[in-house]
Amino acid sequence: MKSLPNTIQQDLRKRVTLEPDSLEMVGDLRPSFNGGTGGPKTTTGWTVWSILTGSASAQGTDTWQGGLMDLDNAKCIADTCCVWRHVALEMEKMFRGQSGRCTAEARASVRLGFHDAGTWSKFTEDYGGADGSILLSGLAGNEDELKRGENNGLQNVAKVVIGWYNKYHRYGVGMADLIQMASNVAAVVCPLGPRTRSFVGRVDSSRPALNNLLPNVLSEAAVLIDLFENKTIRVHGLTALVGAHTTSQQHFVDPSRAGDPQDSTPGIWDVEFYAETAGNSSPARVFKFPSDVKLAHDPFSAAEWNQFASQQAHWNEDYAKEYVRLSLLGVNNINDLTECTKVLPPRIDKASVSDDNAVVKQWLSRGGSKKTSDNIESGNKVSKLD
Ligand code: HEM
Repeated sequence: MKSLPNTIQQDLRKRVTLEPDSLEMVGDLRPSFNGGTGGPKTTTGWTVWSILTGSASAQGTDTWQGGLMDLDNAKCIADTCCVWRHVALEMEKMFRGQSGRCTAEARASVRLGFHDAGTWSKFTEDYGGADGSILLSGLAGNEDELKRGENNGLQNVAKVVIGWYNKYHRYGVGMADLIQMASNVAAVVCPLGPRTRSFVGRVDSSRPALNNLLPNVLSEAAVLIDLFENKTIRVHGLTALVGAHTTSQQHFVDPSRAGDPQDSTPGIWDVEFYAETAGNSSPARVFKFPSDVKLAHDPFSAAEWNQFASQQAHWNEDYAKEYVRLSLLGVNNINDLTECTKVLPPRIDKASVSDDNAVVKQWLSRGGSKKTSDNIESGNKVSKLD
């Protein structure tokens, strides 16, 4: 793809504000919502407001206490989070690989969460965002968002999530919440990942989201920064969110290199991605996205990028904060949501991952076949190269 003419790039630059962190409210927390009557009004509203303004942590330590009641038990039905504990446990099983690394379904769930919520902009009509339409549009027979080119690679996880929806919907589980819960469970199941505060009660929609609101891997940094600013996510937030590529193994940017990872530790939520994308000493198999390389070196994002490269805790908190924001784009009933962070699994560190470094290292130098890439992608321990 050709670069944008300089005049357009400069024009976009002028629109990038000097404030790199967003304090902007979303949904019904916006003061202008509903004729100027918006703002935090409930405990949940104030909690989200505090997270978005940085006065409360976006990571939760609250854990599930006691046993788990059956889904049909009246007490379980009366407790909004009870069914979500069942859901989270089922997700955890699918997302944790035998090696301790997270699985392909986990990574795809993080991306699915972004691709549902990210289809919102403050300059378009107020619909789209985290409303479940990425899966509900096709199920309802409308134009199927999942068939858009930008959603290539999400078909397998879509089947899994639709299966969960069919199983748990009669217990009050909505698609928009399910997609965002899957993203948060996935992130914390990947070793070192954050335990992002999780809310439920979003309103579902099967109306296909507007087009052209998701980023292109070949775009200039200025275009990407502008695109995310229109979602209330400023440049530090974008820098934190793209770090999700730390776990990833691409298939469609360069199909001839399908399965190649975006850093040398796929399936692990570490900061290697930032260091390797910015530097030039990553192993041969690491495939860097052009968009990530541009952000790593852009004057507006490079400083934060380089900080993340050596600051896991800083990155985790910033990722969680921006993910809370992202997961609430287009959600106009934030005051009515319920926090269910306690259903998430605990955070885990790298020590829990199988010691197969020597084989993974050979794979990273382009040893092994597709079978080895598939094994790593599934979160399996690789005791030899196939
Ligand atoms: C500049 C913005 C972004 C661009 C251009 C971008 C682009 C891409 C592309 C092209 C892929 C590879 C798909 C494939 O070939 O299989 C990918 C994968 C992925 N993206 Fe992004 N992305 C961006 C931001 C984000 C954000 C904000 C998140 C999450 C918060 C995210 C999470 C992921 C994950 C987890 C994968 C791996 C999926 C898998 O392994 O199945 N991305 N992204």
